[in-house]
Amino acid sequence: MRWSATRGINKSAVHRKKITVVGAGNVGATAAFLAAQKELADIVMIDVVEGVPQGKALDMFESSPIQGFDAYVHGTQDYADTANSDLVIITAGIARKPGMSRDDLLSINVKIVSEVTRKIVKHSPDCIILVVTNPLDAMVYTALRVSGFAKQRVIGMAGVLDSARMRAFIAEELQVSIENVGACVLGGHGDTMVPLPRYSTMAGIPITELMDAERVEAICERTANGGAEIVSFLKTGSAFYAPGASVVQMAEAIIKDKKRILPCAAFLQGEYGVDGYYLGVPCKLGGGGVEAIIELDLTKKEAAALHQSMLAVKDLVKTIDAFGYF
Ligand code: NAI
Ligand code: 2OP
Repeated sequence: MRWSATRGINKSAVHRKKITVVGAGNVGATAAFLAAQKELADIVMIDVVEGVPQGKALDMFESSPIQGFDAYVHGTQDYADTANSDLVIITAGIARKPGMSRDDLLSINVKIVSEVTRKIVKHSPDCIILVVTNPLDAMVYTALRVSGFAKQRVIGMAGVLDSARMRAFIAEELQVSIENVGACVLGGHGDTMVPLPRYSTMAGIPITELMDAERVEAICERTANGGAEIVSFLKTGSAFYAPGASVVQMAEAIIKDKKRILPCAAFLQGEYGVDGYYLGVPCKLGGGGVEAIIELDLTKKEAAALHQSMLAVKDLVKTIDAFGYF
């Protein structure tokens, strides 16, 4: 018998969705592997370090017969390979190193995210962009400005991670399944994020009715310090399993047009009294990206905390605007 077949990511006879992951480091590779395992799309991983995306992609592809997934995973340095992606996940960047100020980090990652976004847009003008690189709320703003895309198509990942951390801590505290626990975290991805216990529940019951104020406060504080807690263990890097899983949950909502309600960093124009900044808020996420923003009723204290968070994001954006890249 003879069998003739084309091979490779853009040569598949059957049309699959295509996801590009920029940055094949810890978060990027984890996200690529999870997305492939879920068969969301064929995956392209791109990184500046020669051989790394190629090696990791091949390794993932070679796991497919064992894991039982049909998704082609390809590593590259060539943006032509990313052409016509449906979704692009940006994880490229550097982490803050000793002796480096926040502005130093900001100026380096702004350059990286700007450069990457320009190349992505050139090859995939119709894609949706999910940004992971930190400082998140400022980097997703950078991608919006550089891409010129509609705000619905440029989205930041943070709230899914922050609320997953809160859910895990609540489930641990109440000794119940994480499936029975929901959590709500608004605001920027940083110290000023706003966990909302009133909207965080076990089987629909607000946690404020299930534990005393001190325990609720401890969970909120641990959530806000969730990233730092992992760094204090790892020392040389930051979290990547939960971040990778978080961005893939968002990717799945978009690729499958699930219209899931997920907390996303969305560009606000009037919602929550914020104008012209990205902030974490509950969104309806589907094939069109952010298809709706849900405005929760907030108490005066919650609204004030969200305002503080917005001021922190505004500060970062002011610094970026002063670099004069846009
Ligand atoms: P990592 O250092 O393991 O990976 C970053 C990768 O980006 C490296 O492989 C590097 O070679 C690559 N890179 C650098 N410049 C590039 C360019 N111009 N084009 C393509 N690739 C480039 O870092 P990790 O742990 O994967 O984190 C990535 C980013 O995500 C960091 O900024 C981190 O702070 C952020 N992060 C954000 C989270 C969130 O909730 N939004 C959660 C976790 C991480
Ligand atoms: C985190 O929250 C570093 O933003 C990253 O783990």
